[in-house]
Amino acid sequence: MKDIQLDENGRLRHLLTTEGLGRELLTEILDTAESFLPVTDQAVKKVPLLRGQTVVNLFFEASTRTRTTFELAAKRLSADVLNMQVAASATTKGETLLDTLETLQAMQVDMFVIRHQSSGAAHFFAQHAAPGVAVLNAGDGRHAHPTQALLDAFTLRRAKGDLTRLRVAIVGDILHSRVARSQIHALKDLGVPEIRVVAPRTLLPVDVETLGVQVSHDMRAGLDGVDVIIMLRLQRERMGGELLPTGEEYFQRYGLTPASLRADSPDGVIMRPGPINRGVEIDSQVAYGERSLILRQVTHGIAVRMAVMAMILGTRNANPEVHGERS
Ligand code: CP
Repeated sequence: MKDIQLDENGRLRHLLTTEGLGRELLTEILDTAESFLPVTDQAVKKVPLLRGQTVVNLFFEASTRTRTTFELAAKRLSADVLNMQVAASATTKGETLLDTLETLQAMQVDMFVIRHQSSGAAHFFAQHAAPGVAVLNAGDGRHAHPTQALLDAFTLRRAKGDLTRLRVAIVGDILHSRVARSQIHALKDLGVPEIRVVAPRTLLPVDVETLGVQVSHDMRAGLDGVDVIIMLRLQRERMGGELLPTGEEYFQRYGLTPASLRADSPDGVIMRPGPINRGVEIDSQVAYGERSLILRQVTHGIAVRMAVMAMILGTRNANPEVHGERS
């Protein structure tokens, strides 16, 4: 199948998934993010790269980190940003996703950032977008959350340097996690040699082995000697029925606490795509302890999202004819 997120030269056209991006392109995104990191420390936190371009944030699911950092990223690149209030939009009157796209496109939008509860919604948008209009996936159902995985890889590279020696454990609700899937694809392509998933059987996809990861159902064994622990949220909103014993039992068996941390490498780091549920998946002390990179992940989200936007739209002001006519 043709990868619609790349153009004929292998450059990013949309960002829908980390699957298939490959090491060279992933590394280019991380290097570009590195170049944007100092913008946040400038007195005027802006560069003019996307001046005159319009970005629409279209979040059909709740978000704190992703929506705000996409907005900040676009504003720091000098784009005009429209945050559509989905709950107060014509979606509530039955307007379809396709009609929403067509309507907003009629306003000469250059880029959509979309989060949706249905897997495939971002692909659908990209397939129907006019030529020259880009789509960034900010999380679709259980499928993918590519910028989260990229900011995690970026944070890890800054903290650890060489990714090709790391042992990484991803713990928790793998079954419903679009983040885990995107992380596995990105980290494997970036050369991480060992990725483990640690979860009860009910929270693992049936095809988990095909992802090329090691599987453990035991926290102590799963964390033994790892350099990186990535804790996931229990996505109860996506669980059709009871997949767990009690919350207390889950925390006892799979929660990250000072006691369970003893199994990992002494200089191991802890990561977590928010939001945090303290005492459900992670202990408060651990979440904000000295080995935690959680708040750095949030900060880096801005630079990584700036990088992706700039790589897709940033050449337009220099070469407007490249992007052609819109329908
Ligand atoms: N990690 C993440 O996607 O957080 P939000 O749901 O707050 O955007």
